[in-house]
Amino acid sequence: MAEHITEMISEQKVEQRIRELGEQISRDYAGKEIRLVCILKGASFFMCELAKRITVPVSIDFMQVSSYGGATESCGTVRIRHDLDESIEGLDVIIVEDIVDSGRTLAFLGDFLRSKGAKSIRYCTLLDKPERRVVDLKVDYTGFVVPDEFVVGYGMDYDQKYRNLPYIGVIHFDGDKAK
Ligand code: IMP
Ligand code: MG
Repeated sequence: MAEHITEMISEQKVEQRIRELGEQISRDYAGKEIRLVCILKGASFFMCELAKRITVPVSIDFMQVSSYGGATESCGTVRIRHDLDESIEGLDVIIVEDIVDSGRTLAFLGDFLRSKGAKSIRYCTLLDKPERRVVDLKVDYTGFVVPDEFVVGYGMDYDQKYRNLPYIGVIHFDGDKAK
């Protein structure tokens, strides 16, 4: 099916907001160190920009999980595809995600990282679609709240495409009368 993208949030607005999040996190964690856990692949662009704006000591690690099968709907179960490289025992962890939808991915990861002995865990997401939430989850740092539309760019994909767009866009499926 053919599709096209329209801009939802400009590159400039995204980068300005990431700067603000970095400043807020740096204030909240003054005197501490942070382990950022980036959720691959979508959050990688966001985490790099965020890490550069944080002024307290930062170390990074990566996890990859899957719940989406390549389409736009989650199947409801979360599976670990790539685990942490480093121990997080006793560390202050921030899980960095691209977008929170049902909330299942972050809820699962929060429980998982708590079971690994993190001292504290907070959630940071570039985008949040609260209308879609099915699990109870308090997100600590949110870039933008967005409506229930399928977004791409700034790391986020549709079927592995469009991650490299420097802005956040909405995908429209040509021939779909609802869009
Ligand atoms: P959740 O577990 O339902 O909260 O789903 C979160 C994951 O679904 C994110 O990490 C994304 O990979 C993916 N996702 C949810 N909504 C979108 C979207 O609008 N665009 C791209 N990926 C999305
Ligand atoms: Mg993701």
